[in-house]
Amino acid sequence: MSYPYQIKTKEQYDAAWKKSVDDPQGYWDSVASSFMWRKKCDSVLEWNFKDPDVQWFKGAKLNITENCLDRHLGTLGNKPALIWEPNDPEEHHRVITYRDLHHKVVQFANVLKNNGVKKGDRVCIYMGMVPELAIAILASARIGAIHSVIFGGFSAQSIADRLQDAQAEFVVTCDGAYRGNKEIPLKSVIDDALVQCRFVKKVIVLTRTRTPVSMIKGRDVWWEDEIKKVETMGNPDCPPVEMDAEDPLFILYTSGSTGKPKGVVHTCGGYMVYTTYSFVNVFQYTPGDIHFCTADIGWITGHSYIVYGPLGAGATSLVFEGVPTWPDAGRFWKIIDKYKVNILYTAPTAIRSLMGYGLGPVHGHDLSSLKVLGSVGEPINEEAWHWFDENIGKGKCPIVDTWWQTETGGILISNMAGVTPSKPSYATLPLPGVEPMLVDENGNEITGNNVSGNLCIRRPWPSIIRTTYGDHERCRTNYFATYPDLYFTGDGCFRDEEGNYRITGRVDDVLNVSGHRIGTAEVENAINMHAGVVESAVVGYPHDVKGQAIYAYIVYGNTHGDEDLTRQDIVQTVTRIIGAIAKPDKIQFVSGLPKTRSGKIMRRILRKIAEGELENIGDTSTLLDPGVVDEIKSRRV
Ligand code: PRX
Repeated sequence: MSYPYQIKTKEQYDAAWKKSVDDPQGYWDSVASSFMWRKKCDSVLEWNFKDPDVQWFKGAKLNITENCLDRHLGTLGNKPALIWEPNDPEEHHRVITYRDLHHKVVQFANVLKNNGVKKGDRVCIYMGMVPELAIAILASARIGAIHSVIFGGFSAQSIADRLQDAQAEFVVTCDGAYRGNKEIPLKSVIDDALVQCRFVKKVIVLTRTRTPVSMIKGRDVWWEDEIKKVETMGNPDCPPVEMDAEDPLFILYTSGSTGKPKGVVHTCGGYMVYTTYSFVNVFQYTPGDIHFCTADIGWITGHSYIVYGPLGAGATSLVFEGVPTWPDAGRFWKIIDKYKVNILYTAPTAIRSLMGYGLGPVHGHDLSSLKVLGSVGEPINEEAWHWFDENIGKGKCPIVDTWWQTETGGILISNMAGVTPSKPSYATLPLPGVEPMLVDENGNEITGNNVSGNLCIRRPWPSIIRTTYGDHERCRTNYFATYPDLYFTGDGCFRDEEGNYRITGRVDDVLNVSGHRIGTAEVENAINMHAGVVESAVVGYPHDVKGQAIYAYIVYGNTHGDEDLTRQDIVQTVTRIIGAIAKPDKIQFVSGLPKTRSGKIMRRILRKIAEGELENIGDTSTLLDPGVVDEIKSRRV
């Protein structure tokens, strides 16, 4: 496999970036020519950010699985597409070649068809990190169904909300999932969700943990039985369904600053081109390399850089079921040694957590196969960057700090390994096709260097969000209305004297806890559902390992004198409504919240108190009751 669009020098990068903004149509037309299209496009790009309406490769026909699987069979058929490392290191790992993967995807695509799934139907996938998760994703894409993967840590209520929003009639799940020393009863969580979702017609259940499950007649079927049925039909093919470039490929729910999570919609053509393109360029993938992305496939990182990007490039992608610290904190290093991993793509929170164990767990593992290290999900602090560089990369592996979002589909700002320079804690430079811009709160452009502002992007790249499922207006107001004619990222950003970008964190009410994106409003809604809670306000505060942690201020009716138990009850409620990832780390009961005369909660003040900046609270004279601030300060937890 060769990648004609691969950028190999800084000069080539400069030229590619310039060409991509001077002539985006020409640039992306040429990149797209390396992919397999049933029909070429009539126009490369048509767009406006007002509606917004963005169409890449309009008129083109394709199926992404043909690009990720079929086209590799001739040359890479016997090469590993996926390597699966199970949670328990004693269990056998699996190597799935491109030929095997193609076969399994075709089989499961037929299972979906037999169970009534048609083009355009939404298939919700709620599974652990097993190869069948990737197989279910690809099988949906093969028949033109729209997958909506839900991370295995979300609660029944969160699943029900997502199923309802997408009106998904089909669910694929497992009996359970392993995560470190825990067993998560996935099917039972689905059963709880489905009490509210009578429209779900079929649930296909894969056996993984042999956790006892209830199987409802007529609705629930076993994955293995369904595969057997397909096998008895002989060995039928499942030709890929021809899709328009702008047909939806998947929905992935993500948190915003208001309301319930939004279903971010990505489409087939642009997403395929950009994830593969960015995978090859950022990580400088060379055929034969083993790529290990430690994210969960339930998040965008897993979609783009475990499944679609690597498979589009004919790469070998390692899927890891477990957690970095079980059975011990040497798990990643052992895996790297075992499979001679070349690219390690992980999150700052994982690095910081592993730093805490010292170098003992690193010793004794041969990490010399590593060529490239990557970071994603949150700003990486310099200490973690240097630890990663020195102890894991041994000073010889470029670190790519990749900035992007669920909505961007692929990496937008990052150095390219060994091609463009890295700078600790900086995502550095935009990829070709990406034109960042800093603005002040009035939307005026901030030009020049050594400046900070809100990060916007000036023009569409191929994997930009197209809509929020079922509510296009929400997409417009969230991303395209704050600053007219710009895509607004929600992030604050600094540009240095050389034009490198450093992401400083969210400027809206979105938290980033261990790289997981959580809306404060979402957590507040969950807390407010708890009996006895009158009102609440949630803010983030810095945390050594998680990056940010959740601090909740709660006005409570009556704790019956047992504040600790009440705190635990509230944590339970949040876990039940959203999932354990949204649990507040600190809860302070207060008699009132600091509000302006118009009733707006002054989060700035609450943030300062949570951060421990008690002296520097700022102006409180506009508050309805300034006295409440002293009370909150004095009882800080
Ligand atoms: O704040 C930025 C942060 O994560 C947000 C996007 O979260 P999500 O959609 O869940 O996607 C995470 C994985 C792509 C961004 O708005 N973020 C992501 N990558 C970085 C980052 N912050 C700083 N540096 C990064 N490299």
